[in-house]
Amino acid sequence: MRWPGRFALKILGQMLLVALLSALLSTYAFYYVALRFADFSIAQADHVAVASKHAAEIFRSYFDNRKEEFQRRARAIAQNGVREADDLAATEGLLRARLLDGDEEVDAWEADPATLARSREAPPIVVALPTGDKDETPRVLELTFGIPLEMYENSLSLRDAIDKEKELGHVYEHVIPRFLRQYVVLVLMMLAAAPLVGWVFARHVTRRVARLHEAAGRVGAGDLTVRLAPKGKDELAQLGRAFDGMVAELAHARSRLEYLQKVSAWQEVARRLAHEIKNPLTPVQLAVQELASKYSGDDASYRRLLDTATEILREEIGSLRRLVDDFSAFAKLPEVEPTPIDLNVLVTEILRLQPEWQSFVTVEPSTAPVPAMCDRTLFRRVIANLVENAFQAAQGAGRTPAIHIRIEARGGRAVVAVADNGPGVAETDRQHIFDPYVTHRAGGTGLGLAIVRKIVIDHGGDVSVGAARTGGALFTVELPIRA
Ligand SMILES: Nc1ncnc2c1ncn2[C@@H]1O[C@H](COP(=O)(O)OP(=O)(O)O)[C@@H](O)[C@H]1O
Ligand SMILES: [Mg+2]
Repeated sequence: MRWPGRFALKILGQMLLVALLSALLSTYAFYYVALRFADFSIAQADHVAVASKHAAEIFRSYFDNRKEEFQRRARAIAQNGVREADDLAATEGLLRARLLDGDEEVDAWEADPATLARSREAPPIVVALPTGDKDETPRVLELTFGIPLEMYENSLSLRDAIDKEKELGHVYEHVIPRFLRQYVVLVLMMLAAAPLVGWVFARHVTRRVARLHEAAGRVGAGDLTVRLAPKGKDELAQLGRAFDGMVAELAHARSRLEYLQKVSAWQEVARRLAHEIKNPLTPVQLAVQELASKYSGDDASYRRLLDTATEILREEIGSLRRLVDDFSAFAKLPEVEPTPIDLNVLVTEILRLQPEWQSFVTVEPSTAPVPAMCDRTLFRRVIANLVENAFQAAQGAGRTPAIHIRIEARGGRAVVAVADNGPGVAETDRQHIFDPYVTHRAGGTGLGLAIVRKIVIDHGGDVSVGAARTGGALFTVELPIRA
């Protein structure tokens, strides 16, 4: 494991600070909330306690009342005298009645079972009945009254609730401090783990920054093939993508510069060659003419030989002249003199100037204008060279040429794409095809595409070759769009 660098340490420190702050804050928040909650609950409990005490008093006075009332009733019943227990059945609140003679039960009455089940029996009340005769042993009446069972149960649960409420007060005293202790321990454990998590995180971030740093170093050393190709969507990934874009642009710019340097050297070679060939060409041509016209002999076979030789020489001199013209044209490519123009208009104009293309070239203009800065004469040459190559490629493959030119604005660039139905350009050839003197055609000079690329680069753009959807070649000319 590597010791974290300065950047990583900074991140780590900041993370720890944040962790510490949030731990402190959350502990305080917890403590505050718990206290407020306890206060609130205790106040609430006090309210409830007072209310329940009142309720308990109400119950007690109710029960006392009933007891007195039952006593009163028992005395009244005794005064009136009772013959049979059944006579008491209509007495309100009475559950049982027994007439006793000494210990012996004389008569008894009992409420129906449903009423019994709904009631809570009070302790029996015993009253003596007045005697008519002095000999008779005094009879005793035992009365059992009852209160509604529901009432009794309510009073029981009230008592229960009051007991529980008393316990709850103790719960707050002990439970909250215990919770707080556990919470603090948890926070401390998290704080202890924070550096580890932070270190892993910081290492992840700094590794990505280090990659960027290393890539920048390689670019600085001249390696323009470096790409980061970041996957994420965060700022670092955006930075990586911007970096890739810049390096790609740099690589492009360098390739254009190198190409222009090469072309300029080749132009010098072409200029000298043209010069060297052109000079002796005129005397040679004159000498050939002289040779052909001066012979006046009648040797038929010699005449034929002379004619054939003259014809061959004329043809060769002709193609040498064309070569010289091509070389000169390449050597003396004029400076670009751009004027603002809509590429749609320019290409249509070029097509109008080449009526012989009508049968095999189609144009697909953009719906919107594609403004650029163009040298009309030179750009016409670009299109002409591309169309000529496309035509030759298709014909060479034995097909009827069909060439499609498409104009559009794409990714902030003005684009003219020329597609054909020829055999296409092999991927291995695509790199060198724009170099001067590279030709795969008998009688070709290999200058057509060199001229195309030189002109396009002079316009601030570039040209590339790929495969058309039809399988033929697709040459794409890109120019900066005029703002
Ligand atoms: N549209 C095309 N389809 C296939 N091959 C092409 C096309 N255009 C150019 N080429 C290839 O690129 C070579 C170079 O083209 P160019 O620079 O115009 O020189 P030349 O036409 O004199 O050969 C051609 O010989 C040919 O092999
Ligand atoms: Mg050509």
